[in-house]
Amino acid sequence: MKRLGLILVLLASFIIIKGQDEKMNLFIGDLMNKMTLEEKIGQLNLNNSGGFVTGASVSEQTPGKIREGKIGGIINAPSLAAIKASMDIAVKESPHHIPILFGMDVINGFQTIFPTPLAMSCSWDMALIGKSARIAAQEATANGIEWTYSPMVDIARDPRWGRIAEGAGEDPWLGSQVAKAMVTGYQGNDLSLNNTMMACVKHFALYGAAEAGRDYNTVDMSKVTMYNDYLPPYKAAVEAGTGSVMTSFNLVDGIPSSGNHWLLTELLRNQWDFKGFVVTDYTAINEMINHGMGDLQTVSALALKAGTDMDMIGEGFLSTLKKSLNEGKITINDIDIACRRVLEAKYKLGLFDDPYRYLNEERAKTDVLTPENLKAAQEIATRSIVLLKNDNHILPLKKSGTIAVIGPLGNSGKDVKGSWSFAGGAGKIFSVVDGLKNIGGKSVNVLYAKGSELTDNPYLLNSTPDQKKSSEPVLSSEQLQKEALKTAEKADVIVAVLGESSSWSGEASSMSDIGIQSIQQKLLKALLATGKPVVLVLINGRPMTLPWENEHVSAILEAWKGGTEAGNAIANVLFGDYNPSGKLTTTFPATVGQIPLYYNHKNTGRPLDPGNKFTSKYLDVSNDPVYPFGYGLSYTTFEYSDIKLSKIQLKGDETLTASVTVTNTGKVAGEEIVQLYIQDPVATISRPVKELKNFKKVLLQPGEKKDISIEITTNDLKFYNSDLKYDWEPGDFNIYIGTNSRDIKSAKVNWVK
Ligand code: BGC
Repeated sequence: MKRLGLILVLLASFIIIKGQDEKMNLFIGDLMNKMTLEEKIGQLNLNNSGGFVTGASVSEQTPGKIREGKIGGIINAPSLAAIKASMDIAVKESPHHIPILFGMDVINGFQTIFPTPLAMSCSWDMALIGKSARIAAQEATANGIEWTYSPMVDIARDPRWGRIAEGAGEDPWLGSQVAKAMVTGYQGNDLSLNNTMMACVKHFALYGAAEAGRDYNTVDMSKVTMYNDYLPPYKAAVEAGTGSVMTSFNLVDGIPSSGNHWLLTELLRNQWDFKGFVVTDYTAINEMINHGMGDLQTVSALALKAGTDMDMIGEGFLSTLKKSLNEGKITINDIDIACRRVLEAKYKLGLFDDPYRYLNEERAKTDVLTPENLKAAQEIATRSIVLLKNDNHILPLKKSGTIAVIGPLGNSGKDVKGSWSFAGGAGKIFSVVDGLKNIGGKSVNVLYAKGSELTDNPYLLNSTPDQKKSSEPVLSSEQLQKEALKTAEKADVIVAVLGESSSWSGEASSMSDIGIQSIQQKLLKALLATGKPVVLVLINGRPMTLPWENEHVSAILEAWKGGTEAGNAIANVLFGDYNPSGKLTTTFPATVGQIPLYYNHKNTGRPLDPGNKFTSKYLDVSNDPVYPFGYGLSYTTFEYSDIKLSKIQLKGDETLTASVTVTNTGKVAGEEIVQLYIQDPVATISRPVKELKNFKKVLLQPGEKKDISIEITTNDLKFYNSDLKYDWEPGDFNIYIGTNSRDIKSAKVNWVK
């Protein structure tokens, strides 16, 4: 009976969706019959707003072009008024009154800024991550933006790459969960509502694998690695229904993404059944000229034929497609397909019904920076923080006495925001000093001294002019340090706030040295020499190399770029109002020389044997990271029992249950993220030493123990083999459960077909 009910519901929704699709097809068919070739090509043109520029050429957004129907969308428009003015021209003066699609990089929030995506992923909290996207959509759509260039789901194994900060780290399984949560958060169930927005998963594909971690650099990898390790999060976003996909700047198997027919058509559309539209990254078509693919006309035709629908900024489509059509290099059908997809997106967003549905001045005032939004931002930022070290229980701090906050990032709102926060900044951004005062209350005396500049490296200063300007010394290094030590003298505890400026991670922000800058480290050493307790709070976008700090500093907190509420979140953790539960989603190497260093690597034929020279290792440093994937401490301690398995011999579709008993062996309540990894030690291709397959969060009171059970099916054993067939292979499997990817319990099962 229940089943019949379900079938009827499914059937009814199928009929409704089919009916809606038919209505849309008729509407768009009718519209396209009236459109000229120029107008159709115009829909494929995504224009700049004249604001933020990252690529070489800037398309001018002229009212004239909108009037002629030569603009399909506009990116990163500066204000609601600007959006409204452009929309007015489009719907009142252009030939067929087609509304413009307004997109923006709403990456980690609109006005309420959440932690950067890498930080958020360390919460392992999909509900909260989804909520951040939901709130971002609520705020952005109240300001005329109905399309976001997010989520970025590029797997990254190289922390030199500044854009590692914009993704969910190194793991394909976790990255897929985050991709799903973000897409669903932005889009909800109904894109036509005035508070949901279209997602654009990016950068398709493999952008995070840029050689040497240098942004925009060449990517080259095997198909097996692509399918198993890099493609899953994009696929998850497609399965979650992302309305659009953005191409990447890099090569995929020798051909730039934007002109790659295999990638954009065979894989994305034919294999994954993607139904939305594809937009290029910023001037990515034009950049194919530099990749050696031909002149602008050639690369534009190549992009269209490959499956690109919209050209971001570069105007290659606008300026050459007509000529290519006349010369028989493309067909009218190629243009029609792309035009239809762009119009469909506008239709689904409800823009044809009411082009002004996202332009509501009232909502623009009431829907942003609301108390609920800020509360959510604080909660997410608090849960994104990872406790890296806490010897002798230095933390949490008491809410009494004097705290000296010292360091160039201690009193800075700008640097806790992260690199993408176009609209953010209207509200107050809480620095560490603000947060400690706020959360600590009147009984805590908070002092501040800058202590040092962020860097004295002239090369770095020259390449980040904003940084150069803000660090034009008022006091000399010696004076700054002297002043800091004087401040420290008055305090019971020192909170050293060090790390990276916001402009040192994100796009075009690769770094060859990812340690704490020497001028800051000098300050840290001087603070440690005072003999006072020192807590190091890190404000940074990417993983850093911290071997020295890990050896010499008793307490280290990875606070990332926490957004609007960063300072309050950090104070929540420092005072123990929240017991930290975040876990790293990216490996922290000991030195740049070890990179790429990631937990789910393959075994070598000569696995490390410290006593044997001819094994896979370095002579001057161990193979180990400072902090492995999945790592993060708590103010309490957890003990894991051995793994209990429901069976050790399984067949076909049976389900295995793996359980551990986790006990809170400390003195305070705490939340633990219990992680399940699996290894397939013998297969037809070499498989990783372990892969994350699931996790569970558990809250335990002091002394409390709970049994945590995780179910495993053959779906968790599947991988792409050398024929790119997705299946599992029978045999033995190692099951690991633990507190991070290194400290694990293990058990073994045998699974036959
Ligand atoms: C970035 C994209 C971004 C786009 C639009 C490009 O330079 O790579 O991630 O969405 O600019 O701002």
